[in-house]
Amino acid sequence: MNVLVTGGAGYIGSVTVATLLAKGHQVVVLDELSTGHRDSVPDGVPFVHGSVADEDMVGYAIAQHGVEAIIHFAAASLVGESMAKPTKYFLANTAATFALLDTAVRRGVGRFVLSSTAAVYGTPDAVPIPETAALRPESVYGESKLMIERALGWLASTTGLASASLRYFNAAGATATLGEDHRPETHLIPLVLQVAAGKRPSIQVFGTDYPTPDGTAIRDYVHVSDLANAHLLALEALKPGEARSYNLGSGTGYSVREVIEACRRVTGEAIDEVAVGRRAGDPPVLVADSTKARTELGWTPAFDDLDVLVGTAWEWQRAHPDGYGGH
Ligand SMILES: NC(=O)c1ccc[n+]([C@@H]2O[C@H](COP(=O)([O-])OP(=O)(O)OC[C@H]3O[C@@H](n4cnc5c(N)ncnc54)[C@H](O)[C@@H]3O)[C@@H](O)[C@H]2O)c1
Repeated sequence: MNVLVTGGAGYIGSVTVATLLAKGHQVVVLDELSTGHRDSVPDGVPFVHGSVADEDMVGYAIAQHGVEAIIHFAAASLVGESMAKPTKYFLANTAATFALLDTAVRRGVGRFVLSSTAAVYGTPDAVPIPETAALRPESVYGESKLMIERALGWLASTTGLASASLRYFNAAGATATLGEDHRPETHLIPLVLQVAAGKRPSIQVFGTDYPTPDGTAIRDYVHVSDLANAHLLALEALKPGEARSYNLGSGTGYSVREVIEACRRVTGEAIDEVAVGRRAGDPPVLVADSTKARTELGWTPAFDDLDVLVGTAWEWQRAHPDGYGGH
């Protein structure tokens, strides 16, 4: 299939591009490189430098490469920033995606896979969280994605667009060649590993008084390669006129302290931690019920061991001490 991958120079997008290529798909990457890295896109893969909101450029790329499907990773995704700059997020995520969808529908692209997020749920009534849980985002980021999900429902019924919204929990880990290099980094595992590598003095633990066994927040970490595989399965399962949604998580929750302990075991480093207050809007526990992806898509995450997952991220950090070197 000819697949346009927006945000394909980013963390999850680049691993998915590699997975698509390995399965014999033709890929074109569209990325404005606001947070992504040109060096994470393999030589020989057509690369369009620009925004998904640029209808002329996107339309040209679709026509030139005979695009049949779009996997849409491109987004701004910092929860805190979304509360400080809400209009940036409604523009960069919601409005830009509506422009992309307009171009896609007009050009006859019938398949669309969206990077959605567990943030569409807000604080759940119960965990693990199934797709049927109430959708009550507590951040502009979550709302900006949920608005896209809702539009996909309408586009399925009105235009026949086949789509899947994949609600990731916490992406983590690396492949041998592709890893996480966000600037600034906000994700727990790479931050803890930066402490282990001597790049930061300590790791801040936001909230130690949660109603969890060790008082720190519990999250569901899913390996980036498992996420990438889910995109291929979702792409294959798309049905005209249907807008589906799937949770993607390991189904196992680990507390912040358990993650730090795993990083200590894997790296052999002491890793100083500093307890600070809770961050606004951080629920105590977020763990996915991914039964639907497992049964409907046949998705079987390969990484279910936290130390193994952390080990892949550590290997990548050691092999790439400067990340993508600013490219
Ligand atoms: N990383 C996670 O744990 C996580 C969890 C839930 C959801 N998500 C979602 O998954 C997607 C990918 O996340 P990531 O961690 O790989 O992020 P990332 O920042 O590494 O990748 C995003 C990519 O999109 C590009 N981009 C941003 N806006 C663009 C635009 N308007 N036009 C073209 N390119 C643009 C960036 O340059 C970057 O390469 C995002 O949509 C994010 O909201 C991520």
